[in-house]
Amino acid sequence: AFIPKNIIVTGGCGFIGSNFVHYVVNNHPDVHVTVLDALTYAGNLENIKPLLGDQVEFVHGNICDAKLLDELVPGHDAIVHYAAESHNDNSIANPEPFLKTNVEGTFRLLEAARKYDVRFHHVSTDEVYGDLALDDPAKFTEETPYHPSSPYSSTKASSDMLVRAWHRTYGLRTTISNCSNNYGPYQHVEKFIPRQITNIIEGIRPKLYGDGLNVRDWIHTEDHSSAVWTILTTGCIGETYLIGANGERNNLTVLKDILRVMGQPEDAFDWVKDRPGHDRRYAIDSTKLQTELGWRPTHTDFESGLRQTVQWYVDNPQWWEPAKAATEAKYKAQGQ
Ligand code: NAD
Ligand code: DAU
Repeated sequence: AFIPKNIIVTGGCGFIGSNFVHYVVNNHPDVHVTVLDALTYAGNLENIKPLLGDQVEFVHGNICDAKLLDELVPGHDAIVHYAAESHNDNSIANPEPFLKTNVEGTFRLLEAARKYDVRFHHVSTDEVYGDLALDDPAKFTEETPYHPSSPYSSTKASSDMLVRAWHRTYGLRTTISNCSNNYGPYQHVEKFIPRQITNIIEGIRPKLYGDGLNVRDWIHTEDHSSAVWTILTTGCIGETYLIGANGERNNLTVLKDILRVMGQPEDAFDWVKDRPGHDRRYAIDSTKLQTELGWRPTHTDFESGLRQTVQWYVDNPQWWEPAKAATEAKYKAQGQ
């Protein structure tokens, strides 16, 4: 197994990256973490503030900054790369930052990793595979051809391709993980589940796109973190692993679950305009990760994970309120 001592976590102030930093602190006290984050609208230093000290250090900077990477990367033995522009609707409204961060940023990190011979784990998404029909028994596997639909997913697909090329051409020690939809505390209010929870708290009716039958394969973010750690430390160099926890549900079902958990009538929501190019269904087959590396998800009860998530947003309005009004104004301007 690869035992890292000193890792860089890019995007470690975002939803999933900060969960991974907590995971490392809780489970691997000997590993030093340098968080590199630009603190975009999606990054919040509060997510890791209680951890800052001897084990966790924060560097405010951009992954596109080659000079900064030249100073930062030497002395580290792995980069775990979460930083990205992550929201599909934003990528449809304005794709350019997605090209910069997701493609150019990944390129800059790969070049720094090559120069200083640093192990590289790339965090990616199941959206690179496009979508499946609702009645298709198939799920995505590591062999599924790439077929991204949105500006966001096409930039993530591009970044995956760069990682593969840097492994094959330069022998860089890389692994890639493609995970399904995450949920849990600290997720930005632009995303589906937190948007609806915080709408209900604020007395705004939840908003469902299209016919509400699009399926997402939900996984708790703590299970994503344990999977990334497993792949970083025991994954085979050059390989891709799919991460998922058999959590397929359509959006209408998830919204009704949220309404029920929050004591609302199940029809207390608005149907709104569909997302252009909206992927129909994602589904992950994580057999390779489970059989070859022995990983298992622990949050397998979606209802209880959702209750815990609702409670977190109820208990932490100071965390999400500052972003809420601007997020809703943006959606309103788009008719969503
Ligand atoms: P997020 O939007 O919550 O956080 C992204 C973080 O990256 C923020 O802290 C932001 O400040 C930082 N960042 C953005 N641009 C940067 C730049 N140029 N330089 C440095 N830092 C920058 O995203 P998330 O939902 O936590 O997703 C994290 C990663 O996981 C992404 O790579 C995403 O593609 C991938 N992923 C997400 C999901 C999901 O369901 N959210 C599922 C699978 C994979
Ligand atoms: O599959 C992994 C991907 O999951 C990640 O790569 C992305 O970073 C992450 O944002 C997420 O992408 P989605 O587009 O699936 O997530 P989002 O939360 O934006 O939407 C989930 C579903 O809910 C999708 O079918 C659109 C729908 N939706 C979304 C919003 C914000 C609504 O019906 N209403 C809404 O208000």
